[in-house]
Amino acid sequence: MGCKSKYYRRDQNNINFSYKRNVVIKKKMRKKKELRSTARAVSIDPNIVLDVHDLIKIYTTGNSIVTALNKVNLTIKKGEFIAIVGPSGSGKTTLINCLGALDFPDSGKIIYNVDSKGMGLDVTQMTNKQHKKMRLRKIGLIFQFYNLFPILTAYENVELPMVIDKRDAKEREVKVKSLLKRIGLEERMEHLPTQMSGGEQQRVTIARALVNEPLIILADEPTGELDTETTTNILKIFLDLKKAGESILMVTHNKRIAETADRIITLTDGVFTDEVIGGKTLEEINKF
Ligand SMILES: Nc1ncnc2c1ncn2[C@@H]1O[C@H](COP(=O)(O)OP(=O)(O)O)[C@@H](O)[C@H]1O
Ligand SMILES: [Mg+2]
Repeated sequence: MGCKSKYYRRDQNNINFSYKRNVVIKKKMRKKKELRSTARAVSIDPNIVLDVHDLIKIYTTGNSIVTALNKVNLTIKKGEFIAIVGPSGSGKTTLINCLGALDFPDSGKIIYNVDSKGMGLDVTQMTNKQHKKMRLRKIGLIFQFYNLFPILTAYENVELPMVIDKRDAKEREVKVKSLLKRIGLEERMEHLPTQMSGGEQQRVTIARALVNEPLIILADEPTGELDTETTTNILKIFLDLKKAGESILMVTHNKRIAETADRIITLTDGVFTDEVIGGKTLEEINKF
């Protein structure tokens, strides 16, 4: 009995300890959230779409501490196409996640020109709810593995962000049809993701990213899963978007693709270590 009560007391102590720890963690999180909810408008050069200052992101898992981003600075002008290259594990996806309002950095600023006229907002100071709004209306995200809803058709997948944003039905139809036409998939609009090739699915995600007319497109290895010919077709779409004035930040392992960007920035161990001018045409990169 004495033994039982000893274990009982120890369990109780553990429960009390984890309860207290949870309360402390929740308090800290609330404080962080309160701090974040004070995002104030700042002025930003109207020609700049995104301004990143001293971004730091540290992951702590057990005893291991990884500095995934170590004081990253980046300014993207409107209509610029930037490629981020670098070895696996260098922090590319972490950068996309922080810029894409999917995660919070530990410190630094990520200022978006939210009204396109020079009113900047820092996403690191936003609440989760404001993050959702940014992703819905201001940032077009594209991933390597498409992330389409398997039970929705191409048309419905593209339409979804407009539905969530409570946009008018007629406006949705006009916009979705014109985008599907723009990416050459009008014939496939009733197809489910399983009825489309990888390249076609990625084209659907590009249309979905564009549907709410974002300030910038952030793409994380969009051609990582595709063969050479399909990669070229997807690249053509990105180059057309650039020509139409879209701002693009693309992480890629593909050297040829990177060379078509205006600037090619290398990320190594969370630090920008190199930057070169690109701007090659499709014909130029296809010569080799
Ligand atoms: N959620 C996470 N928890 C802990 N460590 C992470 C997490 N995400 C990424 N990392 C680590 O951070 C570093 C950068 O990862 P990542 O941004 O995915 O690199 P990349 O996209 O360039 O391959 C790697 O060392 C990776 O192991
Ligand atoms: Mg990655």
